[in-house]
Amino acid sequence: MAPKINTIGVLTSGGDSPGMNAAIRAVVRKAISQGMSVKGIFQGYKGLIDGDMRDLTARDVSDTIAKGGTILYTARSRQMRTPEGQEQAAQMCRDNGIEGLVVIGGDGSFAGAGKLAELGICTIGVPGTIDLDIACTEYTIGFDTAINTAMEAIDKVRDTSTSHERCSIIEVMGRNAGHIALWCSIANGAEDVLLPENYDYNEQVLIDNIIRNRKRGKKHHIIINAEGIGHSSSMARRIEAATGLETRATILGHMQRGGSPTCRDRVFGSMMGAYAADLLSEGKSNRVVSYYHGKYVDFDIQEALAMQKELPEYMLRVNKALTV
Ligand code: F6P
Repeated sequence: MAPKINTIGVLTSGGDSPGMNAAIRAVVRKAISQGMSVKGIFQGYKGLIDGDMRDLTARDVSDTIAKGGTILYTARSRQMRTPEGQEQAAQMCRDNGIEGLVVIGGDGSFAGAGKLAELGICTIGVPGTIDLDIACTEYTIGFDTAINTAMEAIDKVRDTSTSHERCSIIEVMGRNAGHIALWCSIANGAEDVLLPENYDYNEQVLIDNIIRNRKRGKKHHIIINAEGIGHSSSMARRIEAATGLETRATILGHMQRGGSPTCRDRVFGSMMGAYAADLLSEGKSNRVVSYYHGKYVDFDIQEALAMQKELPEYMLRVNKALTV
């Protein structure tokens, strides 16, 4: 069947995540297979507003699936948050014959996509973020690679922490969400985890726990601290003063966003990218691709942005039971 639209654009926006290239590749190849042509837009919405784009062929995305980062580069655009910027972006689409646009990114990027949809450009969001903090989907591209990277790094910190019989506070990314921290807490067998969703800032509880564990003969004490709480270095100083135990802070930072994507991120990137191209070929607009209840589905952007996500209750209880 002939596609409802002829030319689409694809961009990555916000923080990069491993697997974004798999998604770009799938958008390009699936769209071309359906008779559409594709323009790659560089540096997210900033590049769209500046008209920084070029045609992409199926060959242009060869050898990209195993690469970290995004071949289209990315940016956080302030201009796109203004009505003027949104109108400029929509006009740039019209000037370049772009009838449909795939936006690979997080909630902030989807808000921009929603605005472009209101201005007549068919837009589809694809969830790409290491944070797993998009409510309408059970998976976001990049999460698996990031938690594996963080898990390996935490194992390494734990080795040296045990050798020196220290306490270690390890800060992981996740903006205001604790998914990376919670997964690493279970995977690394951490003694404590601090999650922005339920942390009460009571450091005495931590201090008592460290002292109790030391009395029981534990040689290390790993505290995973989520970025949303932060302040790992000052926390380490206070804990050292209160417990008398050497305490170090390690902030994993941007290394969690890099690296070759895992199999899961390559496959989710491919499936979600292809799904987005399918939606555009059907003329759909203002949708977010999601993985929900084990199926690939799509949600209205505004509906998706209004949804709330919590940390899974049972995971929290299991984590608590295992850290005793
Ligand atoms: O959204 C992904 C993420 O890595 C967050 O975990 C973090 O808060 C933020 O991006 C960091 O952004 P930047 O790379 O702009 O400092």
